[in-house]
Amino acid sequence: MPYLSKEMMALPLGLLVCFIIGVECSLSQLDRITQLPGQPPVWFQQYSGYVTVDDKNQKALFYYFAEAEIDCASKPLVLWLNGGPGCSSLGVGAFSENGPFRPSGEGLVKNQYSWNREANMLYLETPIGVGFSYSTNTSSYEGVDDKITARDNLVFLQRWFVKFPQYKSRSLFITGESYAGHYVPQLAELMLQFNKKEKLFNLKGIALGNPVLEYSTDFNSRAEFLWSHGLISDTTYKMFTTVCNYSRYVSEYYRGSVSPQCSRVMNQVTRETSRFVDKYDVTLDVCISSVLSQSKVLTPQQVGDNVDVCVEDETVNYLNRPDVQMALHARLVGVRRWAVCSNILDYELLDLEIPTITIVGRLIKAGIPVLVYSGDQDSVIPLTGSRILVHRLSEELGLKTTVPYRVWFEGQQVGGWTQVYGNILSFATIRGASHEAPFSQPERSLVLFKAFLGGQPLPEAF
Ligand SMILES: *[C@@H]1O[C@H](CO)[C@@H](O)[C@H](O)[C@H]1NC(C)=O
Ligand SMILES: *[C@@H]1O[C@H](CO)[C@@H](O)[C@H](O)[C@H]1NC(C)=O
Repeated sequence: MPYLSKEMMALPLGLLVCFIIGVECSLSQLDRITQLPGQPPVWFQQYSGYVTVDDKNQKALFYYFAEAEIDCASKPLVLWLNGGPGCSSLGVGAFSENGPFRPSGEGLVKNQYSWNREANMLYLETPIGVGFSYSTNTSSYEGVDDKITARDNLVFLQRWFVKFPQYKSRSLFITGESYAGHYVPQLAELMLQFNKKEKLFNLKGIALGNPVLEYSTDFNSRAEFLWSHGLISDTTYKMFTTVCNYSRYVSEYYRGSVSPQCSRVMNQVTRETSRFVDKYDVTLDVCISSVLSQSKVLTPQQVGDNVDVCVEDETVNYLNRPDVQMALHARLVGVRRWAVCSNILDYELLDLEIPTITIVGRLIKAGIPVLVYSGDQDSVIPLTGSRILVHRLSEELGLKTTVPYRVWFEGQQVGGWTQVYGNILSFATIRGASHEAPFSQPERSLVLFKAFLGGQPLPEAF
């Protein structure tokens, strides 16, 4: 295997470099990225590589870590997870949303609003079978679910701290979007449980963008969103709320038998919305990048809906270049190409039905601040469903409004709306943003991110 020998060569060299410079030498040096192909010069460090998450060393998760642009020693550590389930935080999060670079032509361009301006950003491809993450035992791909994912993610972080001990006691935030509305709360809860035995995770808060938190509320807000944005007619709206709603359609779909009623309604919805409108941003022209659809479970393909209108995809091309994979210390195991969302894993409806909003409630009771934010142009997980869920949770927990529903500013423009309950549970919209808010509204998203990390309310004035 040529790859192994390359790694062995890298090992003494990495150690040698540490030795000569005389800096504190740690295992992380082996994962340090010298330079990504086509990358503009930067002054922060980047690392990527693997952490095994089982005792037999069969399961390995791939991470990409971009230290903060300035003052990395005092900035928090933020873990970012994309959704899917089974879509890549490297391709979607790091290279299309809030990472330091975006692919462009043969190279990379700097993202001016990268989240590593405010934090040390850790992107994890999870679970196994996603992106460069793998298992050498293919049986482990069967039955991967939320529980296994959360456990593997926890072990990943524990072992990642062995490579990066300087981050062990650092303030830690977990962020993510879409189906990460499942991944993030479940991981956070495991951390709190682990901390009871050994205080390891200095968890300071979680932020969830357009998240699935309670599947029927989230999915059934789609009808009104499409109708009020003019994408479906009055008649179709009525059918979509009485004859067959979206949660019923999805559950029939995953049980393998779509009823004639649901089939009729969905065909009508599909015809009117048209496949030439991006469901993840109803005002955006198609198609920016197929990377941006974290669509595995959230939007099952419908007949006539599965044509990819994007021909070129820069992130997919970039991450499949051998020189890029070498620079990232990545390897393809059991797959021929890096893909945005896993083709190996097979998801069922089961986990989608877990109401993770109740886990969010438990986190808040344990004192963990939570931010739920919504790109307001997304019809897949619309702001209206998330807003209802957050409001309902505040009532269940008896949290009073501490910041009444109001606009917030980025520059001299309205960046969105926000409401805060009990100084611990926040809701915010990002105006003009898609399902992947940091992609379509990077500047506004960065303002939101900064306020979240600082535990500050969003700017009330300019
Ligand atoms: C592969 O994984 C399966 C399921 O987890 C396990 O039962 C089996 O023992 C593993 N095989 C090897 C060779 O480790
Ligand atoms: C969706 O449809 C299911 C099955 O018909 C029904 O039980 C549920 O109440 C509906 N939900 C909404 C929000 O209309």
